[in-house]
Amino acid sequence: MASKFTISEDLASLIHSSAKILAAAGKVAAFTGAGMSAESGIGTFRGQGGLWKGIVGPVALTVFGTPVGWRLMPVVSWKAYLSHFYDPMKPALPNPGHRALATLAEAGVPVKIVTQNVDGLHQRAGSDPSGVYEVHGTVLKYKCNHNGHRYEFPVDQAADPQVMPDLPRSPPVCSVPGCGYYIRPDCVLFTENLPGGTWARAEDAMTELGPGDVLLVVGTSSTVQPAASLPVAAAAKGAHVFEFNLEETSFGSLPNHAFFQGPAGQILPALVEEALRIRGEGRS
Ligand code: OAD
Repeated sequence: MASKFTISEDLASLIHSSAKILAAAGKVAAFTGAGMSAESGIGTFRGQGGLWKGIVGPVALTVFGTPVGWRLMPVVSWKAYLSHFYDPMKPALPNPGHRALATLAEAGVPVKIVTQNVDGLHQRAGSDPSGVYEVHGTVLKYKCNHNGHRYEFPVDQAADPQVMPDLPRSPPVCSVPGCGYYIRPDCVLFTENLPGGTWARAEDAMTELGPGDVLLVVGTSSTVQPAASLPVAAAAKGAHVFEFNLEETSFGSLPNHAFFQGPAGQILPALVEEALRIRGEGRS
C-alpha cells in the first residue's frame, strides 16, 4: 500500500492552473512507463531495486530480455521470466492513476494512451483497448521463438475476469505441425523492432496534438528509444507536456512542460478530478 503523499501548496497551485488547461484541451493523450504501474506493486526497470539493476539485473536482461537469450536458453529464459517478471506482475491491479485516465474518457475526454508497459493495466482499469497502443507488446500474448506463430493463454472463466492467466511452469512448445519451437512472450526485447502498426498509431496520437492540447507523460525514465521520442514529437507540435514522475527526466527541457513531482497514482487523480470539476462548472 503506497503511503499517503502530501500535496504541497506549490503543487496544488500547479494542479489548479494545469487543470484549467486540461479541462479546455481539444485532444488529450498519455505516454506511460513503468512508474505508472509502480503503485500497483510492479517494479520498475531502472532506479533502486529496478529489474535491470543490481547483481541479477544484467543476467535477467541477457537471459529473458533479448531474443538471443530466448533462442539459446528457452527453458532457462521461461523460468527466469516467470519468477522475475510474470509471477510478480500477475496479482497486480490497476491503481488510481490508471483509473484517472479511464475516468477522463468516461467523462467525455477520450485519451489515446501510448504505453511502454506490457501489463495490460490500462485496459483493465477501463480504458478503451482500441485506444491503448502497447508499443513494447504485452505479457498477455505469446509467440513461438522462430516462426512467430501466435498464442494466448486462457483465463479461467470461473475466476474473476480481472485475473491474469496462469502460465505453464515449463516453456510450451509451438503446436503448429513442423514447427515445435518454444514459446516466448510477445513483448519487444532489446535489439528488436517495435510492432509497426502500433508504432504508427502511437506516432499519430502524438503528432495530431497541437497548441492547447495536452500530453500526460507518466512514470517513464525517458531513456529507451524510439519510444522516448514520442513526447518530443508532441511538444514540437505545440502541445502541453504534463509530466508525472518521482524525479526529473530529460523531458524537463521540452517547451510547454510542467512537472508534477511525486507518485503518479496520487497526483494524476487530483489533476483529473480538478479538470472535470472545472469542465462541469463551465457547463452549468
Ligand atoms: P524505467 O524503469 O526506466 O523508469 C521508471 C520511471 O518511473 C522512473 O523515471 C521513475 O522515477 C518513475 N517512477 C517510479 N515510481 C513512480 C511513481 N509512483 N510515480 C511516478 N513515477 C514513478 O521504466 P520505463 O521508462 O517504462 O522496455 O522503461 C522503458 C522501457 O525500458 C520498458 O518499457 C522496458 C525497459 O527495458 C522493454 O521491455 C522493451
